[in-house]
Amino acid sequence: MINIDAQNHVKGKSIYLDDVQELQGTLYALPFDATVAHAKITNLDVSLALKSKGIVTILTAKDIPGENQIGGIIPDEPLFADGEVHFRGQVIALIVGTSEHHCIQARKLIRVDFEELPVITDPREAQKQNKLIIPPRSFRLGNTADAWAQCDHVFEGRSDVNGQEHLYIETQGAYSRPKEDGSIVVSSSTQSPTAVQRTISRVLDIPMHKVEVDTVRLGGGFGGKEDQATPWGVMVALATQILHKPVKLSMHRMDDMRMTGKRHPYSADFKIGLTKDLKILAYEVTHFQNAGAAADLSPAVMERTLFHSTNAYYVPNVSATAYSCKTNLPPNTAFRGFGGPQGKFAIEAAIVKAAESLGISPAAIQKANLVVDGSELSYGQILTQTEAHATWTACMENYDYASQKKRVADFNQTNTRFKKGLAVQPICFGISFTNTMMNQARALVHIYYDGSVVVSTGAVEMGQGVNTKLVQVVTDTFGIDASRVRIESTNTLRVANTSPTAASAGADLNGKALQIACNNLLERLKPLANAEVDPQEISIMEEWVYRKGVKTDMRWTDLIMVAFTKRIALTENAHYATPVIHFDKTKEKGHPFAYHVYGTSIFEVTVDCLKGTYDFDSVNIVHDFGKSMNHTIDNGQIEGGLVQGIGWMTLEEIVYNEQGRLLSNALSTYKVPDIYSVPKEINIKHHDTQGHELAIKKSKAVGEPPLMYGLGAYFAIRDAIKAFNPGVELAVNAPYTPEKVLMDLYRQ
Ligand code: MTE
Ligand code: HPA
Ligand code: MOS
Repeated sequence: MINIDAQNHVKGKSIYLDDVQELQGTLYALPFDATVAHAKITNLDVSLALKSKGIVTILTAKDIPGENQIGGIIPDEPLFADGEVHFRGQVIALIVGTSEHHCIQARKLIRVDFEELPVITDPREAQKQNKLIIPPRSFRLGNTADAWAQCDHVFEGRSDVNGQEHLYIETQGAYSRPKEDGSIVVSSSTQSPTAVQRTISRVLDIPMHKVEVDTVRLGGGFGGKEDQATPWGVMVALATQILHKPVKLSMHRMDDMRMTGKRHPYSADFKIGLTKDLKILAYEVTHFQNAGAAADLSPAVMERTLFHSTNAYYVPNVSATAYSCKTNLPPNTAFRGFGGPQGKFAIEAAIVKAAESLGISPAAIQKANLVVDGSELSYGQILTQTEAHATWTACMENYDYASQKKRVADFNQTNTRFKKGLAVQPICFGISFTNTMMNQARALVHIYYDGSVVVSTGAVEMGQGVNTKLVQVVTDTFGIDASRVRIESTNTLRVANTSPTAASAGADLNGKALQIACNNLLERLKPLANAEVDPQEISIMEEWVYRKGVKTDMRWTDLIMVAFTKRIALTENAHYATPVIHFDKTKEKGHPFAYHVYGTSIFEVTVDCLKGTYDFDSVNIVHDFGKSMNHTIDNGQIEGGLVQGIGWMTLEEIVYNEQGRLLSNALSTYKVPDIYSVPKEINIKHHDTQGHELAIKKSKAVGEPPLMYGLGAYFAIRDAIKAFNPGVELAVNAPYTPEKVLMDLYRQ
């Protein structure tokens, strides 16, 4: 089934935040933010700006009736800075006026005096000064201290990986309107309508039932709207509460880039020990996460880094520690992979370092250590239905890696200006929110008596195709045509207490809840088809009722009318909570993931050794989709995730100066992959298995895992540099921008 949004997207008919019809009298809001990264606010004067043309009000911390607090995990982040600022881009005030233009003019007239304080941007420095968001955590398996003596080879090193701008095409925004009795409705471009609702309730000091949050779809989220869509929704709601007017905020790109957090940069120290047959016996790693100035989702992101610290490898002795370091940068946040990619990057760096020191291919070490059924990970989960070896082998054989390797070696023998590099990148990614409590969802289904169906769940459509998968759940369960099914906007009045659409679990959680609702309805409908027969004999296919597989003369629409006339409920509300999973934080052990997703990719790159530029010749993938319920959408997720991962590893370079000022603050200074940076060939082979019971229709979650194939881009480039400049000692420091490649090509 093609994506149900495809037609409207192409025709420009799809509704995003900025397309929501504006009410007459709508006002516009613009945040005013800090121009220094750490300071006391000694004076704030908005009087001149207030007098500026078209300005209705300027809101600051003192206008907040409830708590000036938006921190989700830890209450450490004010909506409006009060007394001090902790990062450049922190919002101090909200300007509300009759047009955006007037607000922009007024913003220039606000006067603030700062008494500047020392700025920290480096996570290692923050850790030294004990500036931590939460105490450090460690995951341990076996005993690394005892294991080193049994290792034939031990290597130590450091890896650094930078952040990443989400660059959702639709910037952050929200539009708030007053309802009766002080109630408010907010359209929000958020992955988490409930987080927006709860935070509005907290800041405005009104109960959650007075706040309706509605989300039609996002023009991309990628994690950037899991937590950081919330403040904008709260700001417009506050303005609506005070002014009793509709208020809209739609962020300008540079404001968005400056004010919002990004993927977390990490720095890591590692130590890896191997036996002579290349088994990794011990791995120690210390991660320094650059959290920025407030917690946001950093503690959860840090936890997922620890969960994925050994990627797809079984290591019997592991000690992984992580520090969430508080710096004077915008709070970093969720981004596709949620700390997992950074955890994997460090062990891949360790493996590459070991391989180069031993003069062998990293793939030899990777292959020798892939997880198998029964492998225990550092957090105690014992793997079943592993596909690490199977996807590896299928990848090697299907794409004839042996010949590719030979061809690349021959090329490098005969070429000096251009060198090719190869990297194999296996992945293993845990599916479920790491916080067990969040793994729940609800679905509300109405069948109208004309036979059409409307569905509400907690899932937010952000381009990943979850709504199409939800339609498929309905059509497959009811045996009706997709044209009968409509997925409504995500709305906190219809479905309450939702988890964000995140952790790649949107389709699984909401799809399972929907499946339960549809099955319950079906069980009520079947006996109505024929009172004389066992309901088990009844089925519906292609809009017709069947008995024992034989078509009857009753249609779906007839059956629904019978149900209605017999006063049978045609509405169902169902709840799903992932079974099996649990995790004990006091022991750092448990079974946090419903299942894991596996896959293997092979990267081939050509580096121009004169210019330092590169082109990816091919990326060949064998991916574990389980039993994919939608190959087109799932392939789209692989391609999009892969290219986003390649961008992170190659071109996208976030630069803050020492004063915490974002230098890569626009698309002219922050390079994202374009069509020319997409690999010349992306081949995706579906590794079809029996799938997993806890995946919706056995079709495994696909949203985040493919991003991690992108790590291979970094190591393929490094392989090519090594072909040009053998024996050189190279740091591991992503992204590999052409400038850095050029320097490494000629490094002595
Ligand atoms: N794909 C598109 N087109 N746009 C997005 O914003 N977000 C990714 C992934 N794929 C995203 C996307 C992220 S970070 C997650 S967690 C999942 O989609 C969320 O959706 P799912 O749980 O339905 O897979
Ligand atoms: N993944 C993504 N988002 C999250 C998670 C997670 O594990 N936990 C909380 N938010
Ligand atoms: Mo995705 S980072 O879990 O929103």
